[in-house]
Amino acid sequence: MKFFIDTANLAQIKEANELGILDGVTTNPSLMAKEGIKGHDAVINHYKTICEMVNGDISAEVISTEFKAIVEEGKKLAAIHPNIVVKVPMIKDGVKAIKWFTDNGIRTNCTLCFSAGQAILAAKAGAAYISPFIGRIDDSGWDGVVLIEQISRIYKLQGFKTKVLAASIRNALHIVKCAEAGADVCTCPLESILGLLKHPLTDIGLAKFLEDAKKTA
Ligand code: G3P
Repeated sequence: MKFFIDTANLAQIKEANELGILDGVTTNPSLMAKEGIKGHDAVINHYKTICEMVNGDISAEVISTEFKAIVEEGKKLAAIHPNIVVKVPMIKDGVKAIKWFTDNGIRTNCTLCFSAGQAILAAKAGAAYISPFIGRIDDSGWDGVVLIEQISRIYKLQGFKTKVLAASIRNALHIVKCAEAGADVCTCPLESILGLLKHPLTDIGLAKFLEDAKKTA
């Protein structure tokens, strides 16, 4: 399973990248706004910077919702860097645009997926990635990991090439559960990635080893 970081924060991207386990980055308009990125040029420059920092797929989201506008915006985003993947919402014009991008050699990440039916449509249109938002599904009282399992099973059975990119990750356990459920990628906040490191027995064991090492000094 690949690890992407779900942020537009450059310090966090740098920290995850320096761990040596980072395969890519996903962003969205909310994450860009959180970093205070304002204006078209600033957004484009921010994507450029991320592409220069990380050698992997970088999702850049369109904010248009009408077919022609999505295509025009997506073409501009794709021109920033070969690693850009155009993130397109799961709406009717979005599906149409994903098919257009597929036919024109531009890779897409279909975002805001909350059902297996949506994931089938995205795969039919040729999306490189489907992003089911598992944390938001959990928040609404359902089990997001079950959706990852279901989509992974359908894609395998049907031979779809679209990669399952588990998004809206809230904690380290989500990452483990998504790995078990067959996700191809998990896009996570830095905190959830670092959460994988934690175990009290590791801390207790290390303290004891370091204490005993003093006896051998
Ligand atoms: O980038 C899409 C997704 O990961 C958003 O997560 O935490 O806003 O539900 P969240």
